[in-house]
Amino acid sequence: MRIYQCADYSSMSRKAASIIAAQIQLKPDCVLGLATGSTPVGAYEQLVRWYQDGELSFAEVKTANLDEYYGLAPEHDQSYRYFMQKNLFDHVDIKAENTHVPNGLAGDPEKEGAGYDHMIRALGGIDLQLLGLGHNGHIGFNEPADCYPVGTHLVDLAASTIEANKRFFASEADVPRQALTMGIGTIMNARSILLVVNGAAKADIVRAAFQGPVVPQVPASVLQLHPNVVLVGDRGALSKLD
Ligand code: F6R
Repeated sequence: MRIYQCADYSSMSRKAASIIAAQIQLKPDCVLGLATGSTPVGAYEQLVRWYQDGELSFAEVKTANLDEYYGLAPEHDQSYRYFMQKNLFDHVDIKAENTHVPNGLAGDPEKEGAGYDHMIRALGGIDLQLLGLGHNGHIGFNEPADCYPVGTHLVDLAASTIEANKRFFASEADVPRQALTMGIGTIMNARSILLVVNGAAKADIVRAAFQGPVVPQVPASVLQLHPNVVLVGDRGALSKLD
């Protein structure tokens, strides 16, 4: 695993964006696995700037997002589809049909999950998967559990995740209780993984995930078994690593 410690959020974002841009330069028709949440926003802003400056094109890029709240329509302003449109897709030359986010309104979540994994395989698999890190160690919405879920599936959100995400909703009651998420198997199948994390509040979970035992109670710890992981964090988030 390669670790880049950056001075602050903006240099962390630039570093993460440069790794994503390098992937696009190397393979213009690559498949990017994308994440939402507050951490990658700065990296998306940088990618948009490079696109506007003519340095980068998404014309052949394909994307598959990690997750979506179950029950939210794509037009809902807290849906992850909406987030991706506002933070990246609406500002670059990516083709709409090349962007994929699980369907939060799927009537049959099991079928939706199987279809999503099939779609990723049909694209040729994910070249670079971008991840954030939950305070409880979740990646995607794979919450602490007694085993690793393999494929894309419906999950009940942990109370701590609902608490962490209520800042984006009018009230805690409005936070969806379930989500569709890529499974740990889907994530681990990516050829390379870029995890971004910032803030001292995540220092303990970063240490548990990357220097603790590999256990499903800390879902991100499974990344220690992946052959090609890059961790990009700011000083605070990486402050408890040896
Ligand atoms: C988002 C996702 C989540 C977030 C995590 C961290 O698509 O899958 O795992 O990456 O909850 O969120 P932030 O970045 O808001 O701290």
